[in-house]
Amino acid sequence: MAKFLFVTDLDNTFVGDDKALLDLKDRLEQSRQEYGSKIVYATGRSPLLYQQIKDEKNLLEPDALILSVGTEIYLDGSDTPDSEWSEKLSSGWNRELLVSTTTGFPELVPQPDSEQRPFKVSFLLQEDVAQRVLPQLESELQKSGLDVKLIYSSGIDLDIVPSGSDKGQAVQFLRQKWKFVAEVTVVCGDSGNDIALFSVGSERGIIVGNARPELLQWYNQNPADYRYLATNFCAGGILEGLKHFGFLE
Ligand code: GLC
Ligand code: MG
Repeated sequence: MAKFLFVTDLDNTFVGDDKALLDLKDRLEQSRQEYGSKIVYATGRSPLLYQQIKDEKNLLEPDALILSVGTEIYLDGSDTPDSEWSEKLSSGWNRELLVSTTTGFPELVPQPDSEQRPFKVSFLLQEDVAQRVLPQLESELQKSGLDVKLIYSSGIDLDIVPSGSDKGQAVQFLRQKWKFVAEVTVVCGDSGNDIALFSVGSERGIIVGNARPELLQWYNQNPADYRYLATNFCAGGILEGLKHFGFLE
């Protein structure tokens, strides 16, 4: 057993099976204390919604937090986003122009105010129209000269963020800061906004057994021996994957 960097999505990945979560939390805390492993949550949630799930599920204090689909990084319990990361994202980002470009699309229903963030504009978009709307929206945004990325998850959530940000790029930032190589970095997820975690490099990837079709489809098209599709759901699937890669016994 050795030191590793553990990165996990929260909803339907780390959280979703309370019993397995208790076991996983114990094992992670032990690895952190014994070997100096680091624990990072990478979620689409805003600070407000993160605090809710943290309290509700009594989550371990993370060593860093990636919120708002990778557009905000919080280090060592700080409640101010890392400024180096924010500065990197602000170049070329024009939130007002972005919002005004989206008003031409009645299918886009804005998410609650708490989920609209400095570098993230989020909507609900029904799955049956998404295939038609997303390419049109992408081309309108391009015409406006916006360098952004569309991230569609769970057949409903659409996030628009700067092209230089997503969960995967945020993990690269932490890896470099803390000097963890990809071989000892484990990323876990279940849905569309987690694809970036798996596609950014050769990190060890755990796809939980309850993964959404969009992630399974991506996994089937991008097989690699450093990605593991678990049988068990949520924290149970993570435990299974950590054993598979030899990070836990
Ligand atoms: C979380 C966020 C939401 C986002 C979704 C997918 O649910 O609250 O804003 O769209 O994750 O990233
Ligand atoms: Mg999830």
